[in-house]
Amino acid sequence: MLFRSLLSLSCVALPATALLPDKSNPVTAQPNNCREISIPITLQVPRFLISTEINNDWDVAALTFNLTRRDFGQATFPLPITGTTAAPVKSTYSVGATLCGNGSTTLILTHGILESKLYWQPDFPGSERNDFVKAAVKAGYSVLSYDRIGVGSSSRVNSLTDAQFQVQVAVLGSLVSHIRTASTAPTPARKTVLIGHSYGAYLTAAAAASNQSRNAIDALILTGFAGGFSHFAPFLAGAGLRVARDQRPRRWGALDAGYLTTADRYADAYIYYHDGDYERRVAEWTHERGSEPFAVGELPSLLATNITYEDITAPVQIVQGRYDVSACGGNCDGQLGEIRGNLTGAKVVETVEDLPAGHNLNLHLIAPKAFELMFDFLRRQGL
Ligand SMILES: *[C@@H]1O[C@H](CO)[C@@H](O)[C@H](O)[C@H]1NC(C)=O
Ligand SMILES: *[C@@H]1O[C@H](CO)[C@@H](O)[C@H](O)[C@H]1NC(C)=O
Ligand SMILES: *[C@@H]1O[C@H](CO)[C@@H](O)[C@H](O)[C@H]1NC(C)=O
Ligand SMILES: *[C@@H]1O[C@H](CO)[C@@H](O)[C@H](O)[C@H]1NC(C)=O
Ligand SMILES: *[C@@H]1O[C@H](CO)[C@@H](O)[C@H](O)[C@H]1NC(C)=O
Repeated sequence: MLFRSLLSLSCVALPATALLPDKSNPVTAQPNNCREISIPITLQVPRFLISTEINNDWDVAALTFNLTRRDFGQATFPLPITGTTAAPVKSTYSVGATLCGNGSTTLILTHGILESKLYWQPDFPGSERNDFVKAAVKAGYSVLSYDRIGVGSSSRVNSLTDAQFQVQVAVLGSLVSHIRTASTAPTPARKTVLIGHSYGAYLTAAAAASNQSRNAIDALILTGFAGGFSHFAPFLAGAGLRVARDQRPRRWGALDAGYLTTADRYADAYIYYHDGDYERRVAEWTHERGSEPFAVGELPSLLATNITYEDITAPVQIVQGRYDVSACGGNCDGQLGEIRGNLTGAKVVETVEDLPAGHNLNLHLIAPKAFELMFDFLRRQGL
């Protein structure tokens, strides 16, 4: 597919206006040595002008057709973007995060589309084996897992004008500087590792490639990710997208109509799980509890952004469930060679493409082994 880069990722992140925790912010004590915090971030980033209007599920059906059309993003059917703002737009957001552990290496976790930070710390009965945060704290790391803006405990933002890829990259960039300068952790971060899943993997790669953060990042781990965008169509169509506020008014009634969710638990089973390698009750949990809507601005802005993989210098590990739909079209065999080839500036590139799992790797039965592969990679990088 050919996507024109409408703006480069030259975002200016202003210093966080205040660093947490402070007396004015309630800090909730939790097991696992965790605290809920909220981090104010001010940034100044250009915006895409996105030309779609979503009012109801009929519109979502039409949007899904557009997004999955064979030539979407090509000259015959361009992205729904009419341009960019003349100047960067300044915004202040509150980022809701969970900070755990007391190690001097901090892992910053960025979740995927249609999810929240609960992905890293699920709470269904028996979820300890799937709890990445718990495993990481046990392995000696500090962990910052946050909700993308628009989602969960972070600021509600406009689904078209604020919830855009380059804005989310700038948020992550601000968190990187925050964690290295603020005294949020008992031990301030001396080393920083970015770990991203799915949409969060693209954000992680873009942040690691950016001038703003490149030198502050010691390693990155990407999951639910194979670089390209060729297999988004089955994922998006299979999700059976619906307007979130109509689907669950009590939970999402305050969101604008441009926030979308999956149709039902079977849609989640299709896009996230591989039969025989997961427990069905986990897909039910994903739909009922783990799920958070995504905003329509997030996809076109990702597709219009040129992620310069060659600018990533830190060691990279890509860990894939073999049967991932959105990353690999359901079979990752031999699918990671192209992204490996694009990571020309990275000190180390390691890939694992055959774990028995679908897209939501951490929530499959293989999770403890996947976590161990990641910690082993980090230890071999001296982290
Ligand atoms: C993306 O950025 C790279 C490096 O700056 C450049 O070589 C390439 O031409 C750009 N690609 C597009 C499609 O803009
Ligand atoms: C990043 O820094 C390099 C070298 O200082 C500069 O040439 C480049 O234009 C910068 N890129 C962006 C997107 O600001
Ligand atoms: C789908 O694409 C057509 C053609 O560009 C456009 O007119 C229409 O508004 C799009 N629909 C949505 C919901 O974005
Ligand atoms: C760090 O956390 C571990 C596990 O919770 C605890 O046993 C240890 O005492 C803590 N160390 C410091 C210096 O706080
Ligand atoms: C690798 O880079 C090329 C050239 O920029 C690009 O067209 C392609 O989509 C990239 N592939 C992946 C998997 O990132």
